[in-house]
Amino acid sequence: MDVSKLMFRDGLMDGERILVTGGGTGLGKEMAEGFLKLGATVYICGRRQSKLDETAAELMEKHGGKVVAHACDIRNADAIHAMVDAIWADGGALTGVVNNAAGNFISRTEDLSVNGFNAIADIVMRGTFYVTLDVGKRLIAEGRKASFLSILTTWVWSGSAFVVPSAMSKTAIHAMTQSLATEWGRYGLRFNAIAPGLFPTKGMSARLSPGGQGGNSKNDTNPMGRAGEMHELANLAVFLMGPGAEYVNGQTIAIDGAGYQAHGGTFYPVLHALGDAEWEQMRAMIKGTNEKDKAERTTG
Ligand code: HXC
Repeated sequence: MDVSKLMFRDGLMDGERILVTGGGTGLGKEMAEGFLKLGATVYICGRRQSKLDETAAELMEKHGGKVVAHACDIRNADAIHAMVDAIWADGGALTGVVNNAAGNFISRTEDLSVNGFNAIADIVMRGTFYVTLDVGKRLIAEGRKASFLSILTTWVWSGSAFVVPSAMSKTAIHAMTQSLATEWGRYGLRFNAIAPGLFPTKGMSARLSPGGQGGNSKNDTNPMGRAGEMHELANLAVFLMGPGAEYVNGQTIAIDGAGYQAHGGTFYPVLHALGDAEWEQMRAMIKGTNEKDKAERTTG
């Protein structure tokens, strides 16, 4: 990310302590960099310790400050509890959580197994809730304020063909955002979400647009004629997580160049015409990526 394009002054997030799930790679890493650059202490978690360590070292080398890496599969509530214990022991309560960790792949729904559905729902819906519950309970008990931010998609408003487990699970977190914004507002805990359009990352492209096919080649139909840039996402995340916007609560904000208004932001237009052979080929490519990632995992 080009940090010179951050809109905020250095030191804005001094004293903030933020956990970014899935912070070792992709959008999570970019947001973690933004928070760190502006003074926050950042905790990142994911399933690959080596990737997390690499990211923590890279970000601290660039910006100084403190990034702490925890290998943790958010599908495992006990592992989350142990990680949050360690974070609290390292300097006290968190002031913010970014629920960014996700899993997704394109598939015809009739090709999914129950395991395939659960692989996504367990990360996106259940895992996000487990993290929120574990951290939320502690904050309530200690009477501390904090901000929660979840990374969703515009499918929470429209659904999307060919990514049904993700669309369902993200919609559940959209409901959590609105529900807890009201229920836990009285504790000083606020809940917002960002629905990014296309911000290309390695993990996403490999699973949603394998081999360049698939649903994420919509630059040409986006009203802005381009994909999002990482500093744009980081600026919105800082606005929602940093001090000064505490009255923003219960909102899911799209950042997609009005792609949702222009073409619905779903995969239907590109994918509905594909045949058996193309799906088979994409499935094989996605599985190759999953196996490679799995070999690097230290947890889950
Ligand atoms: C059908 C598939 C499949 C495919 C996996 N499965 N890939 N089924 N088509 N292409 C099935 C498997 O056959 C298996 O079911 C089950 O899913 C679990 O597979 P595993 O490989 O064992 O899963 P696991 O190791 O738990 O990995 C989880 C994952 C993986 C979700 C499948 O993709 C992952 O770890 N992803 C993390 C990173 C990621 O996805 N990033 C993209 C996020 S993009 P069976 O029945 O065979 O046992 C995003 C939103 C983008 O979230 C929005 C853009 C606008």
